[in-house]
Amino acid sequence: MKTGDTGTYIHFDSRHEAGEHGSGDHHHSSTHYINVKFGYYLFFLSIAHAIAIWAYHRVFFQRPRKPSLGFSALPWVNFPLVLSVGAWLAISLAILCYSGAYAIAIKRFGRLSYALVPFDIFLALRPNIPPIPYLSTLDLHKWVSRLIILYGLMHGIGYLVKWGLEGVFGKTFLLLNLLGLVVFILFIPLLVISARYFRRKYYRTFYALHNITLFVFLGLITFHARPGVLFFTSLSVLLLIYQVFCRVFRVCTVQNVEIISSDYSSLLIARISKPTDYHYFPGDHLRLTYSPTNFKAWIFPTHPYTIASFPDEPYIDLVLRSPSSFYLGSDCQYSISYSYTTMNLSGLKHAKSVHLVAGGTGISFILPVAKLLLSWGVFFSTTWVTRNKYDLHILKALNVKGNIDTYITGATEKQNKTSDPEEAHGLMSSAESENVELEDLSATKEEKPSGSSLKFGRPPLKDILNYLTEGDVSKNWVITAGPHSLVSEIETWGKLNGVGVLSELYEM
Ligand SMILES: Cc1cc2nc3c(=O)[nH]c(=O)nc-3n(C[C@H](O)[C@H](O)[C@H](O)COP(=O)(O)OP(=O)(O)OC[C@H]3O[C@@H](n4cnc5c(N)ncnc54)[C@H](O)[C@@H]3O)c2cc1C
Ligand code: HEM
Repeated sequence: MKTGDTGTYIHFDSRHEAGEHGSGDHHHSSTHYINVKFGYYLFFLSIAHAIAIWAYHRVFFQRPRKPSLGFSALPWVNFPLVLSVGAWLAISLAILCYSGAYAIAIKRFGRLSYALVPFDIFLALRPNIPPIPYLSTLDLHKWVSRLIILYGLMHGIGYLVKWGLEGVFGKTFLLLNLLGLVVFILFIPLLVISARYFRRKYYRTFYALHNITLFVFLGLITFHARPGVLFFTSLSVLLLIYQVFCRVFRVCTVQNVEIISSDYSSLLIARISKPTDYHYFPGDHLRLTYSPTNFKAWIFPTHPYTIASFPDEPYIDLVLRSPSSFYLGSDCQYSISYSYTTMNLSGLKHAKSVHLVAGGTGISFILPVAKLLLSWGVFFSTTWVTRNKYDLHILKALNVKGNIDTYITGATEKQNKTSDPEEAHGLMSSAESENVELEDLSATKEEKPSGSSLKFGRPPLKDILNYLTEGDVSKNWVITAGPHSLVSEIETWGKLNGVGVLSELYEM
């Protein structure tokens, strides 16, 4: 077959089609290696991107930025996501369109998919190479992964259609081609369950399928791809070895976790004696899981929890939602990772006014940050939105002093005990909150720090934050932590009003 634009003579790749890998046939068609260079092009571009991300964090982690250029969630540390994903899409499509020949293009889809894997694993590394906070690259990881899956699927569909039309569908079931088919089949449910809605609902299933697909993909494509892809596999495996190393050696084993709970409350505190030489900054989080000797630590996902206590305290307090599918008891050994910093808060030393807004368990981020602001003499106010009036017990247990304006959004026992995580953080529609009846507050009065206010219903956030839009807004900030609905509402408000928003989203 001859392509009109390049004038190259192109034959369908007999080795790939016949599955003759390693058969000792040294005669290759003229197109057998034609795609290899494109894999390397993409790989070198991904290295350039990794270096750019690193350099970007090196520069911007030092100072805060206003979210004016679309740098959302973490304004000063987020490498622009839309730009990155858009560029990857454009580059990959350009490479794909370089030769219009169908047989070569579908083959190239497969190579491009695999060439992006080392970069994709790099984006998910935990910890990443300093100063890249691992959470800041996770969104890009999700999109690059989708690109990988999409290209893998196009590659598979391309061959299925081609062989179907040529009447040689049986080639699909030759051993080396079959390996590709297994990955193709796994990609479809992973693509579906990785959508935010399903991922949140079935996180454990997502995680299991994610990791199974990762290992099957790396293993099988190493044999399936012709010409070979050992270079990409070796790099990916090295990165995964580093990841396993961190999960075994960059952790502390803890036991006798003290659980502080209260009847009817949807929040509890897990108090852990601070291991010697365990250091962290206010607002840092850790990853909690079973000890590495427990097989569950390797099957189930690890849990990110923000450290609610201040670094000078003798224990590590975590605020957790209850009930949870993650069993936490004083009879079991757990492992905690070293701490992870996601934000550089030092720029706030010069802030004029800061408003802290927590949704549900988001209070774990807000409390230590409030103490930090207090130590710097920065003016701040705090609003906490939670579902359940009994949740106030954690303020007492954490020995919170100072003003916290708390909004209780759940009015009934049914609302207090909800299984929906977004709801459980205490956010509901305004219509719902209008019908909330004021209840007897006597049960909670003693839990409430003196000087704090306690209200029922959804907080009028725009009114509450309005004072930040006056005067020199560049010195005013909102810091928010918790569920997606709260964080995105405040980020939108910040963009509209030119007020900087720093957010810690409590979801992956
Ligand atoms: C940076 C960061 C800090 C966080 N800090 C806190 C905190 O201080 N207190 C707190 O209660 N929560 C915090 N979270 C959220 C918390 O990690 C998850 O809600 C928790 O792991 C859920 O575990 P579960 O067994 O109770 O989940 P489930 O009850 O099974 O699920 C509840 C929700 O949590 C999500 N989820 C489940 N497992 C995980 C996991 N391993 N990692 C991430 N999300 C998961 C699910 O999508 C679902 O929406 C934080 C999340 C992040 C990303
Ligand atoms: C072929 C595709 C993919 C590859 C190669 C890949 C690779 C990885 C790796 C190596 C990790 C670290 C695992 C760990 O530490 O336990 C990871 C984590 C993660 N990946 Fe992927 N992934 C892929 C697809 C996806 C998709 C499609 C999504 C969602 C849209 C996704 C979301 C995540 C998340 C949220 C984490 C963090 C898990 C945690 O920290 O607990 N991945 N990925």
